[in-house]
Amino acid sequence: MTKESTFPLIAKTISGLEDVLASELESLGAGGVMKLNRAVSFTGTTEMMYKVNYACRTALRILKPLFHFEILEQKDLYEKIYEFPWEDYLDAEHSLAIDAVISYTVFTNSQFVAQKSKDAIVDRLRDKLGKRPSVDLEHPDLKINVHLFKDSCTVALDASGQSLHRRGYRKSTGPAPINEVLAAGLVKLSCWDGVTPLFDPMCGSGTLLIEAAMLAKNMPAGYFREEWGFMKWRDFDPQLWDKVKTDQNAMTTEAHVKMHGSDRAERAIESARENLKFTGLYEEITLETKSFEDVQPPFDKGFIISNPPYDERLQIEDSLAFYKMIGDTLKRKFAGYTAWFISSDLDSIKFIGLRPSRRIPVFNGPLECRFIKFDLFAGRKGEQEKQ
Ligand SMILES: C[S@@+](CC[C@H](N)C(=O)[O-])C[C@H]1O[C@@H](n2cnc3c(N)ncnc32)[C@H](O)[C@@H]1O
Repeated sequence: MTKESTFPLIAKTISGLEDVLASELESLGAGGVMKLNRAVSFTGTTEMMYKVNYACRTALRILKPLFHFEILEQKDLYEKIYEFPWEDYLDAEHSLAIDAVISYTVFTNSQFVAQKSKDAIVDRLRDKLGKRPSVDLEHPDLKINVHLFKDSCTVALDASGQSLHRRGYRKSTGPAPINEVLAAGLVKLSCWDGVTPLFDPMCGSGTLLIEAAMLAKNMPAGYFREEWGFMKWRDFDPQLWDKVKTDQNAMTTEAHVKMHGSDRAERAIESARENLKFTGLYEEITLETKSFEDVQPPFDKGFIISNPPYDERLQIEDSLAFYKMIGDTLKRKFAGYTAWFISSDLDSIKFIGLRPSRRIPVFNGPLECRFIKFDLFAGRKGEQEKQ
């Protein structure tokens, strides 16, 4: 049997997670890993492309570049995309969707770029096959990514289809659930070891705890997901895909770690309970309805990773008082813990009143956040307080 050659691939991610994504790809065996802005490029075989789609926690989508060209004038976009043999990838009965991302180009509107690219492909297929394929933005047979940076355009197939943050386990949510890819990235950035007890005191629907538990068990990120873009490609290899899943599933282990989630909202705890039941993690993660200010530490010492309310979706009446409460509660009750919080409320987080030992910039959607670490040393009460 001849060895399949490798080809270039791109994993897209959230700004701030490029480092953790690069090391994840390396540990999955990807070659030529190189960090980019909100993305990591690498090389791999079809097997690697399937594996990364199934197992990688911190990628939003995996792209397989098809061709590349320069744009000197606007008309080049339509003409170059029209020239590509799309009939090798798509039947006239099939549907397509275009995702366009632009920066510093002659175009100012990504919708216009998507429209022009779609016209070129549809016109090509009509001319070659006598019929136009349709557009389906939700479940297309082929999702195509058009990326324009300055005068350079890369056209890629989207091997993931829907974003990989859609893990398939979230059956119920609160008003402001954290993106699953961001949650996994935060757990990785925190350097949690998968053994130290973990507590999320504002757990909402439980995303951070579920991502942490899956990481601790080495359970593939896509274990509960059913659909990937490449499954509808002409060259889809179901046997290879089954092998990738079987190999990755076989690496899942038992995790012997205590995990606890609490939230002041009963509805949030109900959502978390539903999600934990679906994932089979309900016996492993305990839950409680309690405000942070009233909660008793569930372990003698451990890790806290949490995303308190900070954006428009969850209004806090007095955010300064809220963040002061977080700091006071940490000082009073959580000596011996390492605590990490993500927030975009850069003014209010100062009111936690503790000296952070790390501040990592990371984005939550459009919101620029800091992921902040506090080491709450045991037996030296007050020493960690700001001077
Ligand atoms: C941004 S959401 C967390 C979302 C969660 N990570 C998820 O994925 O669903 C913030 C959560 O903090 C909770 N909350 C707000 N104030 C609280 C307090 N004082 N004590 C405990 N929980 C609180 C809210 O009920 C909400 O569920």
